Amino acid sequence: MGIGIKIVTSLQKEVPGLQLFPELSKAPMPVMATPGDLWFWLRGDDMGELLHRGRAIEVIAKPAFDIHNIVDGFKYGHGMDLTGYEDGTENPQDKEAEEAAIMEGESEKMDGSSFVAVQQWLHDLNEFEKLTENEQDNVIGRKKSTNEEISDAPNSAHVKRVEQDDFDPPAYVVRRSSPWIENQQSGLMFLSFGHSFDAFEMQLNRMVGMVDGVSDALFTFSKPITGNYYWCPPLGKEGLNLSQLMS
Ligand code: HEM
Repeated sequence: MGIGIKIVTSLQKEVPGLQLFPELSKAPMPVMATPGDLWFWLRGDDMGELLHRGRAIEVIAKPAFDIHNIVDGFKYGHGMDLTGYEDGTENPQDKEAEEAAIMEGESEKMDGSSFVAVQQWLHDLNEFEKLTENEQDNVIGRKKSTNEEISDAPNSAHVKRVEQDDFDPPAYVVRRSSPWIENQQSGLMFLSFGHSFDAFEMQLNRMVGMVDGVSDALFTFSKPITGNYYWCPPLGKEGLNLSQLMS
């Protein structure tokens, strides 16, 4: 579960580090903020069970909240984006994943929590499929056939834009994105967890061309249609620990 800044401010509380999604409307590739108040990520294999869990949350939230967006995500093959490229390869693992995604050493009420950036991307797969496989590889910066990184990929290649080791300080995040389909539209529901939003924002600034004027080649076939930041409270023994929002 994620909580947006508006809820926190209306409770007259503070979550250090929580902010609004950046509105980069003047960037070469503009991205928009579409702030939401609460976010739930329901996971499981059984769509029926997920529906009923979602409905139960709806009943609890109903007096105060309207549902704005429900997105059905799923796993494609061995964890691919709908373009056929493996997504998540360079995610930090184990201890390093925890360090990247989970807050530690801040305060008792904040430790164990995480910040998530949520961005729904809409693909134009017809546009992507017009490219040869070699051109597609240069959009991503990896080979579809082997998942190998292409060292001399163009500067606009996605992994060249967001290479985590290439930032100062290195910008590690834990991505847990999944493909989505609705009617005849499809894309990637991008999720990135961090102990702060700094790493995500450095990556996003490079993608949209704010750093060196070069924008990410992903924009040639995909565009973000939402942009949200949430704080995911820590889990205590009795469920969510919301003490940061209590007096
Ligand atoms: C249409 C949306 C997107 C698609 C299809 C996509 C796809 C991919 C793919 C295929 C990879 C290579 C494999 C891997 O390491 O996971 C990758 C890497 C990565 N992506 Fe994305 N991505 C998207 C959006 C984003 C956004 C919005 C960000 C952050 C602002 C981002 C951050 C990253 C990072 C940090 C890596 C790893 C780079 C490295 O250290 O090598 N991606 N993405």
